[in-house]
Amino acid sequence: MDNKIICTCMEVTRGQIVKAIKDKGCKTFEDVQNETEAGTVCGCCEDDIQEILNEYVSK
Ligand code: FES
Repeated sequence: MDNKIICTCMEVTRGQIVKAIKDKGCKTFEDVQNETEAGTVCGCCEDDIQEILNEYVSK
């Protein structure tokens, strides 16, 4: 399931996004954009990325 492509424009997988959150400390959609380039083209993966952030970022 970590191999699932979340951002089809940049072919960024769920695993890459989780890694950016855990290893690089990404806390916002913008952080993930800067780190992985996910969400930088059409933006339609934003909700999915936000969901992953909600799951992993401790409040
Ligand atoms: S699907 Fe992520 S920017 Fe288009």
